[in-house]
Amino acid sequence: MSSRRAEPSVFVIFGASGDLTRSKLLPAIFNLVEEGHLPEEFAILGVARPTIDQATYRQQMREQVRQAEGEPLDADKWKRIEERLYYLSGEFDDPALFESVKKALGDIRQRHSVPANYLFYFAVPPDLFGQVAERLGTAGLLKEDEGWRRVIIEKPFGYDLESARTLNAELTRQLRESQIYRIDHYLGKETVQNILACRFANGIFEPVWNRRYVDHVQMTVAEDAGVGRRGAYYDKAGALRDIVQNHMFQVMTLVAMEPPIRLDGEDVRDEKARVLRAVTPLTPDDVARHVVRAQYDGYRKEANVDPASRSETFVAMRLFIDNWRWEGVPFYLRTGKRMARRATEVVVHFKRPPLMLFSDTPVKSLSPNMLILRIQPDEGISLCFNAKVPGPFERLETVTMDFSYEEYFKTEPTTGYETLLFDAMTGDQTLFHRMDMVEAGWQAVAPILEAWRTDTRSTLPTYKPGSWGPAEADLLIERDGREWRD
Ligand code: BG6
Repeated sequence: MSSRRAEPSVFVIFGASGDLTRSKLLPAIFNLVEEGHLPEEFAILGVARPTIDQATYRQQMREQVRQAEGEPLDADKWKRIEERLYYLSGEFDDPALFESVKKALGDIRQRHSVPANYLFYFAVPPDLFGQVAERLGTAGLLKEDEGWRRVIIEKPFGYDLESARTLNAELTRQLRESQIYRIDHYLGKETVQNILACRFANGIFEPVWNRRYVDHVQMTVAEDAGVGRRGAYYDKAGALRDIVQNHMFQVMTLVAMEPPIRLDGEDVRDEKARVLRAVTPLTPDDVARHVVRAQYDGYRKEANVDPASRSETFVAMRLFIDNWRWEGVPFYLRTGKRMARRATEVVVHFKRPPLMLFSDTPVKSLSPNMLILRIQPDEGISLCFNAKVPGPFERLETVTMDFSYEEYFKTEPTTGYETLLFDAMTGDQTLFHRMDMVEAGWQAVAPILEAWRTDTRSTLPTYKPGSWGPAEADLLIERDGREWRD
């Protein structure tokens, strides 16, 4: 994000009483105000079901944002938001609600001198996306005659390729692709964006970033938390849909893509889409051998989870990207809930150098060099290399050069939503999913979904909460003579 200000607009949140609004969206707006990124001509309209008045809504949100920030709010900054924060209650299937939204928007714009730029955020269950878009369209709120109209859509974007296409068809009846912002909060994380800078703003990495020098790539998204209060959603989705098809694939595209011509416009998204299209299609045999799913012990007893659930809370897999740069280089992906600790990282393992130079010494093996991109927490980058232990030339040890965002830049990590909301308010779609990327992502996981659909076993392998997943996941990588970095 630059020091620029977002374009004047009204930010309209559907689902304004939900978890996402309270824990992510309004705290992100607060941070944007704190950093001076929002203009004076800005307002927020929250729309949700609960019948509460505006004063109560403002009070509730103040408390929620305070909790999310973990400290008392700067009174002036919050006042700036509160004076611009409005609330409307109603049912999303009621056309009258959308007439009220229209009227409220007119009043709000007049009061705060905002032009007719509307950013709609659908923080509602996915089965309502189409309906809300249609009602907005009918109310004439999506036509860009006076100002711009943009819609941010939360995931999941469909449950498979077919449902994603159906959903897209519903949306594109009302909206053009350039108005649709499919959000993935991982892409707003500084460390994820920095993958591009690390690769393309340095001369030393790109020459070795290919099949000649890279042995394999590991990606881990481990969470120590369980499904918490999201059992109902999660049990329908599972880890493959919740994390792999979107967040992990997006990070993988940044690691694997070719240099784009430019950093803005469609060039970055074009290159990312190419990576997803190049994922080698998995055969049923590949799925059986190279994809592992499991559930943590106790998952079936979580609130709102089916006691006979077969949804995975852990998945590990081996993929190949079938292009010139990556031919034959395995990408190992794994993600899970209730794992040993929260850690998201990408590890690029380079090939081992020849050992023969050390054949007359006690050194019996050389550790491979690794570049570790630590996405979160403890955001940073580490480079591991071998160094001689002081004394006679007998022993080598792997040492690490470390860069820490917090130590160096003295900044606290953000949630990712700040950057993405700002980008949507300035009309920059680079960090959002384009429809062809969504489709390519679903296409890549389709053989897995199909194999699991036809698998009739009543239970899945399980793993102990607080572990690194099931033994099968270790086997998956060990069979190839490699191991996970835990
Ligand atoms: C969400 C998933 O998209 O990302 C959650 O639905 C997951 O299940 C979350 O916990 C992880 O986000 P973060 O930013 O905490 O890594």
